[in-house]
Amino acid sequence: MTAGVTVVLGTQWGDEGKGKLVDILAADADICARSAGGNNAGHTIVVPIGPERIPTTFAFHLLPSGLVNPKCLGLIGSGVVVHVPSFFAELDALESQGLKCSHRLLVSDRAHLVFDFHQIVDGLKEVELGNSSIGTTKKGIGPAYSGKASRSGLRVHHLFDQETFAQKFRKLVEGRFKRYGHFEYDTEGEIERYKELAARLKPFVVDSVVYLHQAIHSGKKVLVEGANALMLDLDYGTYPFVTSSNTTIGGVCTGLGLPPKLIGYTIGVTKAYTTRVGGGPFPTEQLNDVGVHLQEVGREFGVTTGRRRRCGWLDLVVMKHSCLINGYDSLNLTKLDILDDLPEIKVGVKYAVNGNPLEGFPADLELLANVEVEYVTLPGWKTSITSVTSYESLPENCKKYVEFIESFLNVPIEWIGVGPGRESMIKKSMQ
Ligand code: GDP
Ligand code: IMO
Ligand code: MG
Repeated sequence: MTAGVTVVLGTQWGDEGKGKLVDILAADADICARSAGGNNAGHTIVVPIGPERIPTTFAFHLLPSGLVNPKCLGLIGSGVVVHVPSFFAELDALESQGLKCSHRLLVSDRAHLVFDFHQIVDGLKEVELGNSSIGTTKKGIGPAYSGKASRSGLRVHHLFDQETFAQKFRKLVEGRFKRYGHFEYDTEGEIERYKELAARLKPFVVDSVVYLHQAIHSGKKVLVEGANALMLDLDYGTYPFVTSSNTTIGGVCTGLGLPPKLIGYTIGVTKAYTTRVGGGPFPTEQLNDVGVHLQEVGREFGVTTGRRRRCGWLDLVVMKHSCLINGYDSLNLTKLDILDDLPEIKVGVKYAVNGNPLEGFPADLELLANVEVEYVTLPGWKTSITSVTSYESLPENCKKYVEFIESFLNVPIEWIGVGPGRESMIKKSMQ
């Protein structure tokens, strides 16, 4: 890893394969930090375990994936929203898989809390929206961030002042009853439960600003694991079909209390095609055999909700927008192997409305609904690339696909994923 903090971010609509790159880079990191989102994320990692090196799958939601590296400490930053019962459920599941990590996991005292009532409200809001529902993960993310923005949220440090916590908690639940009608919820039972959860959480809690800055000052290597992705960003994604946090490089700075000058290197993770879970615009979506092929070969099912992911061609208009906002130093192109059998591959390169080309990715969903996508068609390679280990050994047409993306975006592709496992990643030399 280079000097400064290394950041891994999703460039599209999520599930690009961030977890896998984070796992690889964590081998060289002292701290792996999450800066935004909550357990709406689902990062899958496949690593060889034990003397027989059995490929084992780990699913991370709220905890940083870098924990798979036994030397790496996981830090949940202030910008993350934390559902404490899920935090422990995930920790217990990892420990029962043999990954001992409770002694190397920290949570910011400034992180906001997600409660079960936020999750209930998340579901109720979706019902209210009817046909225009967002298709959220129902993990309470939107309601928790709404509480934060309206300055009524509870943060981790509140857990340790029981009286204030109970008062504020009752007020919050009352407010939700007023807004959504009375739903089944044991307020007093929750307050009791949180006394125990607070005691269990206490050893994990830290002032993450002091901790992180001291660590950086003493030469520790920090890796930030982005969650969700650019097109799900609250400001720059397909609003309102987005998540409720800033998933961009800006969110990394605010979510961890890091000044931009400490960010050393930013890698954007990009699937070789596009997927999206939930509702909202998706200009290159393929509601045809191609979409079904990508869905089946790519096993496109969500890690968090098990939902089928919508599939389509790579969209370089989205990618340009993403590159402008996050300024990637390099990209990790993932799941290139999923395109192995296709005779030809299309790439979206331009949007137009009524024949008039658009300059960027439009903000207005009405406009977006009417865009015609211009595609470039590239020849497929019709060969399995899953066991290829060097860039030079990839089929010519495969290299052409990679180089087309690089030259269109003017960003080098540094890593290429050719399979789910840790070993299935090609490192391409960068000039
Ligand atoms: P994340 O949310 O960005 O971490 O991505 P997910 O874990 O939700 O989804 C990515 C899926 O693709 C996971 O099941 C990974 O194991 C898998 N994956 C990652 N990279 C590759 C790759 O290069 N090839 C293949 N075939 N699968 C991959
Ligand atoms: P990772 O980190 C894919 C989507 C949801 C929904 C919208 C809002 O695994 O890439 P929310 O529950 O956040 O309010 O849902 O955002 N979404 C994701 N889609 N991958 C993710 O994370 C996502 N996190 C949120 O499907 O459309
Ligand atoms: Mg995911």
